Amino acid sequence: MERHEFLAKLGIGMAAVCAGCSIISCGSKVNDPTPNSGGNNNPPTSGGELFTVDLNNELQTVGSSKVANGVILVRLAAGTTASAFTAVQVACTHQGTPVNFNTNQGMFVCPNHGSEFSTTGAVVLGPAATALKQHTVTVTGSTLTVAA
Ligand code: FES
Repeated sequence: MERHEFLAKLGIGMAAVCAGCSIISCGSKVNDPTPNSGGNNNPPTSGGELFTVDLNNELQTVGSSKVANGVILVRLAAGTTASAFTAVQVACTHQGTPVNFNTNQGMFVCPNHGSEFSTTGAVVLGPAATALKQHTVTVTGSTLTVAA
């Protein structure tokens, strides 16, 4: 084999190898997993921040509430300490209907079949048999954070 023949064959071989790399590279980009965007309504089961609230602008009156990321946050008392708030899963443990906070009763009430839950999420009245998951509330300055 002449030298120029060898180099020509080597060049074709490298082009084929590079084409193979390119195809593999493109394929891997298409198949890259997309990070979880939190698009569903189920909050994480443990750890992690679910949402924050600026107490200078939101939840300023007792009984006011906010629903976000599968959680209902309620102001139970005046002040800016964590104990003035409660946060529980919004989905009723009976069949998943979103619960509301009834200020007069001081408890969460499911509009579907009437289950009632305490401010900590404990079952007060069925048919629900399982407590609502309570979430952690912390306050730093005027920022309230709800965590899983
Ligand atoms: S879904 Fe809430 S009581 Fe049935």
